Amino acid sequence: MENLYGNHYYRLLAFKDDLERQLGKMEQTLEAFSGTNIIDHTMGRLKSEQSVLEKCHRKNIEPTPDNIVKGIRDLVGIRIVCTFVDDTYKVRDAIREFNNIEVVEEKDYISNAKPNGYRSYHMIVKNKEGYFAEIQLRTISMDTWAALEHDIKYKKDINVNKNLITAELKRCADELASTDISMQTIRNMINGQM
Ligand code: GTP
Ligand code: MG
Repeated sequence: MENLYGNHYYRLLAFKDDLERQLGKMEQTLEAFSGTNIIDHTMGRLKSEQSVLEKCHRKNIEPTPDNIVKGIRDLVGIRIVCTFVDDTYKVRDAIREFNNIEVVEEKDYISNAKPNGYRSYHMIVKNKEGYFAEIQLRTISMDTWAALEHDIKYKKDINVNKNLITAELKRCADELASTDISMQTIRNMINGQM
């Protein structure tokens, strides 16, 4: 990793740590304010050497440290898994207020799921040194779905009907989305918001 990232390695790690530190603080504040659990868990990582090389190949980038820092915006990745759908948007709003970072792109695949059924809220953020990070926000059910779909995508030797798997995954995604909404409604009722 240090070879691939060159002298950006420690500054990328520091960026990841800074985001995780601000997230931890935000989680405490949000949960103290609302009195409920908002974030189930978070996961931060630097992109593995193999994934960086694959992406360079796909994007036709020569993998030098300066090129990858400029051309690949998810070298630093943070995934935040929330309990309920509304919480993902609460966390999104709080991230927009983080110190030392600017949000440069947002994609709402929760409101607009990908055709395969993938749902998550993506943010690309940039720090003052010019490094990028990708933040993914999702619920527990979206996370479970994405993990399963990811495993299947990278399993080359599936010997049952691929179309059937694709269709079943899409059906599960729709059912999970509908359950997420029902769970949210129940919670709102419990909290007296309806
Ligand atoms: P990349 O060039 O791959 O980064 O695509 P993009 O720039 O169009 O980004 P997008 O926001 O669509 O996806 C970024 C990340 O979201 C991916 O690296 C995955 O971690 C995740 N992701 C996006 N689509 C899917 C999907 O269909 N299934 C799963 N499991 N993950 C996805
Ligand atoms: Mg991307």
